[in-house]
Amino acid sequence: MESIKIFAPATIANVSCGFDVLGLALDTVGDEMVIRKTSQKGIKITKIVGQDLPLETHKNVAGVAGLAFLSALNYDHGFEIEIYKNIKPGSGIGSSAASSAGAVWAMNELLGKPFNNTQLVQFAMEGERLASGVAHADNVAPALFGGFTLVRSTDPLEIVKIHTPDQLYATVIHPQIEVKTSDAREILKSTVLLKDAITQWANVGGLISGLYTEDYELIGRSLHDTIVEPIRSILIPAFDTVKRNSIKAGALGCGISGSGPSIFALSKGEETAEKVAASMKSVYKNVGIDFDIHVSKINQQGIKII
Ligand code: HSE
Repeated sequence: MESIKIFAPATIANVSCGFDVLGLALDTVGDEMVIRKTSQKGIKITKIVGQDLPLETHKNVAGVAGLAFLSALNYDHGFEIEIYKNIKPGSGIGSSAASSAGAVWAMNELLGKPFNNTQLVQFAMEGERLASGVAHADNVAPALFGGFTLVRSTDPLEIVKIHTPDQLYATVIHPQIEVKTSDAREILKSTVLLKDAITQWANVGGLISGLYTEDYELIGRSLHDTIVEPIRSILIPAFDTVKRNSIKAGALGCGISGSGPSIFALSKGEETAEKVAASMKSVYKNVGIDFDIHVSKINQQGIKII
């Protein structure tokens, strides 16, 4: 194979209680990319469609992730990358992660898979470092592994793929305002109260257990964030109303997607997820800010060839 076209999914990081460690991949929204082997060394971004993003390799997250991949190999040639962006930067659904993870996944395929998924996460994290100043793995891991993932450790990197119940659906509303991950991280406190930490790790355990046992009620009871959401939600217009109405419409839980401004809800079944979408829409129509809305099954596969 000399060239491939891929789909790289959007992702929801944190999933309420799991700041920087939990994430999941979506099915119905993502970027497309074409990656081509070239005789020239290095990475060249030849085309970006859909967003105004830098073509310079060192300033582009796919370029930087690709360079990290190449630096771990003895490879005399290089790659060209075309990016078709469907995920807006600053949306909170893993725009930089999709490009970073997509680039390294495709390059790995073209070279006959010299690296495993965990190694690819490590390379893709360099794209996240460029985008937000922090090499967090909770978006690139679900993009590469599919499903729900847990970043158990970053040094050494350990990613655990978590069982995902079949009837679990996500609804995501993306208000058309930009929240930079770096800004949304800057406003967080660097210490937490022990009582809040106790609540948080109980919920992480509850959520993981609920996912494995397909106990949707337990999943719902565990989708709470006592540490980050109270601080970041002030950046998102009508967050509390969207959350309250989503739960009323039948969602298991609702929270901030990644660093926002997108808001996600998880539901059992597509019908409920659509009802939640309708309730989110009706709130935002009154807010007067444009929005996109997505209903998606959890993507079990991660990045794929299209
Ligand atoms: N865990 C990261 C954060 C995800 O919340 O800052 C950013 O998408």
